[in-house]
Amino acid sequence: MKNVLVTGGTGFVGEKIVAMLNARMDIGNVYVTTRNANINGKKNGKVTYCLWNPLTENTPDIPLSEIHSVINLMGENIASGRWSEERKKRIYNSRIIGTKNLISFLNKEATSLESFISTSAIGIYEPNTNELIDENTPVDQDSWLASVCIDWEKTLDELQRGRKVILRVGVVLDGNGGAIEKMKLPFLMGVGGILGDGKQFMSWIHRDDLSELYITSIFDENFSGVYNAVAPEPVTNTSFTKILGSVINRPTIFPVPSFVLKTLFGDMSSVLLDGHRVIPQRLKEMNYRFHYPHLTLALEEIF
Ligand SMILES: NC(=O)c1ccc[n+]([C@@H]2O[C@H](COP(=O)([O-])OP(=O)(O)OC[C@H]3O[C@@H](n4cnc5c(N)ncnc54)[C@H](OP(=O)(O)O)[C@@H]3O)[C@@H](O)[C@H]2O)c1
Repeated sequence: MKNVLVTGGTGFVGEKIVAMLNARMDIGNVYVTTRNANINGKKNGKVTYCLWNPLTENTPDIPLSEIHSVINLMGENIASGRWSEERKKRIYNSRIIGTKNLISFLNKEATSLESFISTSAIGIYEPNTNELIDENTPVDQDSWLASVCIDWEKTLDELQRGRKVILRVGVVLDGNGGAIEKMKLPFLMGVGGILGDGKQFMSWIHRDDLSELYITSIFDENFSGVYNAVAPEPVTNTSFTKILGSVINRPTIFPVPSFVLKTLFGDMSSVLLDGHRVIPQRLKEMNYRFHYPHLTLALEEIF
């Protein structure tokens, strides 16, 4: 049985992964690091929450020598507010300094480590090219968001043992949280609409499929290196909006012009307006099976 350490396991993606790990017979202890002192020491089945601030150099109080796998998700939320200089620093440091600190403890103490599954994002690729993007597509050298992803991925070079897997995650879809929670409200109020010109591609993945992918990467030794963690069917924002409107039975009448989003959100509007037409080429080559390969299916499950 594998003992797993999860960072960011209290977040939207992490809580689902932790619940799935908790339900599996082939998983031993699950340690979830958190900055939240209120849940320090809390136990739920095989899961224990452990206080740790990744920006300090204090070792988390976890038996690191017994850990077989790490799932690394921690990071200041990217889409929850304007990117002030202060927030940009938190977004960067929580991922890059945090992961470097984690890796330094693992190098010293995690003598049983077999795999380290880390996170990145499709924002690493150049936006709005409309070309199909696979794992061989060169990364974007210009945008700030891409530079965060590039530096986050590079931190794994320092890890001295274990198989390394990096998932470049697309827009994660599920009911309570993430993009859907932000998009749902305007729709239910009857003002949901296409963002900008609606031509930007959205590469999405259902949270269940993503969570299963992290866990499969722990067990399947064929997984190594970088994977695009997106469903095989990227769609334009216009199509996404129409499908969402039809699944929840609400019209999509008011397009939201780019300048409104830029005024409201500043640079952070790039998360809404920049498109990436990403395909999971390496997963396709492995015949990886998605439960929700099509957007309609995914949204029907969610609503
Ligand atoms: N959701 C998406 O659509 C999406 C798409 C692409 C990539 N990703 C990436 O996937 C990862 C998980 O996403 P998510 O949606 O689950 O994020 P989330 O809900 O915002 O959760 C982030 C997690 O990181 C921890 N965290 C937050 N701020 C932190 C900070 N300043 N320093 C250290 N830890 C911090 C939180 O743990 P505590 O508060 O308990 O410490 C929380 O569990 C993130 O790195 C995100 O960038 C997500």
